[in-house]
Amino acid sequence: MRLAVRLLPVVFAAVTVWLVGNQIVQGLQPTPSTVPLALAPWGGPRPRCVVSCGKGARPMRSVTVAAAGSPSDEQFRREGAGEAVGPKPDLILSCPPSHIQRLTEYMASLYPCEILCSRTSGKGSSMVHLLLLRCHGEPASMMQKIASDSHLAWVVQKVYCIDRDEAPQPNIQGVAQSLAKQLRAISLQPRSVEAPVVRLACFPRSQLLELAQLLEANLCEEGSAPCKLSPTGCNTVATAFLVGDLWYTGVSAAFGQNHHMANKRPAGNALSRAYFKLSEALQRAGAYVKVGDLALDAGAAPGGWTQYLSEQGCACVYAVDPAELELIPQRTEDGQPSGSVEHLCATLAEASVQLAERQREGRLPPLDVLTSDMYLGMGRSCSVVRALEEDGALSLLRPGALVVVTLKGTEVRGHSKLRFDAQLAPVVEEFKAICEGVQLFHLMANRERERTLVGFKRGG
Ligand SMILES: C[S@@+](CC[C@H](N)C(=O)[O-])C[C@H]1O[C@@H](n2cnc3c(N)ncnc32)[C@H](O)[C@@H]1O
Repeated sequence: MRLAVRLLPVVFAAVTVWLVGNQIVQGLQPTPSTVPLALAPWGGPRPRCVVSCGKGARPMRSVTVAAAGSPSDEQFRREGAGEAVGPKPDLILSCPPSHIQRLTEYMASLYPCEILCSRTSGKGSSMVHLLLLRCHGEPASMMQKIASDSHLAWVVQKVYCIDRDEAPQPNIQGVAQSLAKQLRAISLQPRSVEAPVVRLACFPRSQLLELAQLLEANLCEEGSAPCKLSPTGCNTVATAFLVGDLWYTGVSAAFGQNHHMANKRPAGNALSRAYFKLSEALQRAGAYVKVGDLALDAGAAPGGWTQYLSEQGCACVYAVDPAELELIPQRTEDGQPSGSVEHLCATLAEASVQLAERQREGRLPPLDVLTSDMYLGMGRSCSVVRALEEDGALSLLRPGALVVVTLKGTEVRGHSKLRFDAQLAPVVEEFKAICEGVQLFHLMANRERERTLVGFKRGG
């Protein structure tokens, strides 16, 4: 009994450490939104971006992504004192954790910018990833391009625009003064017709209210030009972003989407989200469909890919799917397909027999494009390349024909990304045996366990 009493404090201490360590005791951890990012991301030698976005990573305990050569806090204090130590970001994008690696690859391949690094912030469902970029051109025009990029519309949640020439501030009072100075400068410009209506973008958000009050007080000072703070109807955005011990600021024009981009349906009349998979795959691969091409779209329903192929000028898209197409194919008066889409309401194996027959009879030339977004069911989905061969679709193509295939894995809880990638390796090899110039993408519109292959049929 006496031993048990003596052991009690030890057991209590151990349990407390475990509870705190697992964030079960509330209030003992700092709230995520008030915790500044732990490491400042730029400066020193040019950073190499090392990205990790493992789902199981515990948020905010440590920074999950680090740029090689990240500067020390001391370097940041020097930066605060006015000594430039390396490239500062001018755009910071936020996105869900599932997309940080894809977003990094997308921005690096299609936008003229340097990827400085990425960071994690927040916990659980409110966790966001931040990508810090240094634009090679004008940040405002890049921001506008990002806002109108349909592939980013579901992914990028916010864009923070930093003025790289503004000195970083050590505290929120300094931020309010700096933003007030920048806003006064733009409202006094001779070409500004309207008074700025300003939305405040603040990271972390927990500081927004205090910053708004301080900024309003600064703007009200005697001699200030007219300027109104408002979360809606704004034409200007004032940004404050905390990294390490320092705040970075910037004032920029507000674009159509007001920097709140997430979950906006991209403009246009795309039939399904899948439409953007094909458009992005071709853009990323630098491949395109030529006017007058003949295409076979395997697993076409409801019709997003068929729509895209048709819009690109294909003379005819053979849309193969036992399911109904939402896209209404044109028909002549006697019911024959006309125009650019013919729905073959059959499996790929059955449709390939029909099309091969037409080719044998000289009624159909070899096809220029084959796309497949088929889901073959549990277990078989990754063998889609073999299915295209066995069902006879590949032999319908001319040498050099464009081939785009979605590889779909099964979304099994606990199955790691590494395991999925390992599953894909032999399928990619199968594809390389058939096609050359092969590229593999994890596209913005792909699911977590889904990849897209692009290549050209060998023999061209
Ligand atoms: C994800 S959907 C395709 C979406 C389409 N790409 C779009 O843009 O709207 C997959 C389709 O594959 C079709 N499918 C599955 N196995 C097939 C097969 N063996 N032959 C033809 N279609 C098949 C299914 O009926 C389903 O409509």
